[in-house]
Amino acid sequence: MVTGMTESHPKITKAVIPAAGLGTRFLPATKATPKEMLPVVDKPAIQYVVEEAVAAGLNDVLMVTGRNKRPLEDHFDRNYELESALEKKGDESRLARVRESSDLATMHYVRQGDPRGLGHAVLCAAPHVGREPFAVLLGDDLIDPRDPLLSRMVDVQEQRGGSVIALMEVAPEQIHLYGCAAVEATDDGDVVKVTDLVEKPERADAPSNYAIIGRYVLDPHIFDVLRTTEPGRGGEIQLTDALQQLAADEKVAGPVHGVVFQGRRYDTGDRGDYLRAIVRLACEREDLGPDFKAWLRSYVTEEM
Ligand code: G1P
Repeated sequence: MVTGMTESHPKITKAVIPAAGLGTRFLPATKATPKEMLPVVDKPAIQYVVEEAVAAGLNDVLMVTGRNKRPLEDHFDRNYELESALEKKGDESRLARVRESSDLATMHYVRQGDPRGLGHAVLCAAPHVGREPFAVLLGDDLIDPRDPLLSRMVDVQEQRGGSVIALMEVAPEQIHLYGCAAVEATDDGDVVKVTDLVEKPERADAPSNYAIIGRYVLDPHIFDVLRTTEPGRGGEIQLTDALQQLAADEKVAGPVHGVVFQGRRYDTGDRGDYLRAIVRLACEREDLGPDFKAWLRSYVTEEM
């Protein structure tokens, strides 16, 4: 416990990243490589997510993994062989790039075993998290590092208690791809009160066009709820269903609020969006951007 914090508002330090999915949308690339390791420019997608957690002050990261996910552990660990080869060559800049991921955060791993859904993956984090609020970051959602979202959610949770989810307005024909929230306005422009939630509704049944994007700051009571949450959509234990129970009764674990995100987000689990993320982030890079943009401009005008 950090001095000065009251028991009801312990400081949030832990991030949970579910990473047990099979990545079938990227086969055959993901046959022997975890989807989280696919590069976005020159860093694996998962590294952006861990960097985002660290940037929001969460240095304790638990990954919920499964079979064939060993490369994730290796990526965030030291690689002495590679480091000593680069040291011998005097290649300081690459050496720094190699060490970046192992110096980033305190990493922990737990295996999900049976793939019983996102809610079940989060429940696997219960022994590690204990009874403090914590964050969940889904690896498929990449939030542009220039548009901080998680730190805002942590602030809102510290001010208002309970749980906080990230929401984004999407086109009505997209809502069936997401968890969807019924909301009420608050006195804060980017914060709404969540009154109901439904996982991947049909367009006609959706209570709004507010979609859950993969960032959550959760009250630990979510674990108690998840233990008794029945399988829902797709026969899986859904995190959205457990949150719906919290939203329905504030007395259990405080309110559920949403932070409405208006920044740049990429779904790296979708092939088209994955390509867009690479192009946009490459264009922004000081080292690669100028040449790449010049090429892109001529490619678009001459070839398309
Ligand atoms: C999960 C959640 C869903 C959320 C989405 C965000 O679904 O279950 O509520 O809207 O992440 O990316 P998935 O995309 O893993 O099927």
